[in-house]
Amino acid sequence: MARSALLNVMVQAAVKAGKSLTRDFGEVQNLQVSVKGPGDFVSQADFKAEKIVHDELMKSRPTYGFLGEEGGEEKGTDGAHRWIVDPLDGTTNFLHGIPQFATSIALERNGEIVAGVIFNPATDELFTAEKGGGAFLNDRRLRVAARRVLSDCVIGCGVPHLGRGNHGKFLVELRHVMGEVAGVRRMGAAALDLAYVAAGRLDGFWEAELHPWDMAAGLILIKEAGGFASDMKGGQNMFETKTVVAGNELIQKALLEVSNRPVPAR
Ligand code: IPD
Ligand code: CA
Ligand code: CA
Ligand code: CA
Repeated sequence: MARSALLNVMVQAAVKAGKSLTRDFGEVQNLQVSVKGPGDFVSQADFKAEKIVHDELMKSRPTYGFLGEEGGEEKGTDGAHRWIVDPLDGTTNFLHGIPQFATSIALERNGEIVAGVIFNPATDELFTAEKGGGAFLNDRRLRVAARRVLSDCVIGCGVPHLGRGNHGKFLVELRHVMGEVAGVRRMGAAALDLAYVAAGRLDGFWEAELHPWDMAAGLILIKEAGGFASDMKGGQNMFETKTVVAGNELIQKALLEVSNRPVPAR
């Protein structure tokens, strides 16, 4: 597998951030934590990892724009390119000592995601994809799962933060999906959930209230692994609607239909 110079820059940044996250994960009880909103935490580990990724990427491509979860948006002088970064996806898991978290880095060119890297330092799993070049887990080429009916499928999901998003709507979606599938998982790191769809570990995934940094790298992984993703209305406005539904062609369609079923009348 030959990686482009740009992808190598992204991998290096993710691996460097991963070293910092691994150190902080080892003494998580000593980290300063603040609360962004109900059930929504951020720690020193998030800020440190974002600075590392930012500095690595901007050292290599100083003219690109940068959108990071913790630092917000920096416009670049190069209007075509933007990095989209979640330095620590799965903060709640991280702070609870659960090794399901990752750094996610995507590169957008003229509004299209052209490369993505998701790295979980706790498992040493590096997911990478470039437009037209396929998706990989370490050196292994990825392909989405081939299951054809929902009743055989394990589907991932996310639960909106307390008081944010529409919990009532999510519970209706969950009830409908649970009634059709072999199993539902809520693993707590959306970037990894999407990477798991690319890897065929999850047959599908849906979530609302996501941000571009949660989804950008995962979306190109899924595409390059032969999968499909849409927003919850079936369009391609995932960033604007903050929603995503993903899977192989059949399962994505089926999941979209089931998750959109109307609230049952009482
Ligand atoms: C969160 C995780 C979680 C998802 C939330 C995200 P963070 O990201 O991806 O799985 O359900 O919507 O905000 O805050 O840990 O980077
Ligand atoms: Ca967060
Ligand atoms: Ca995130
Ligand atoms: Ca984050």
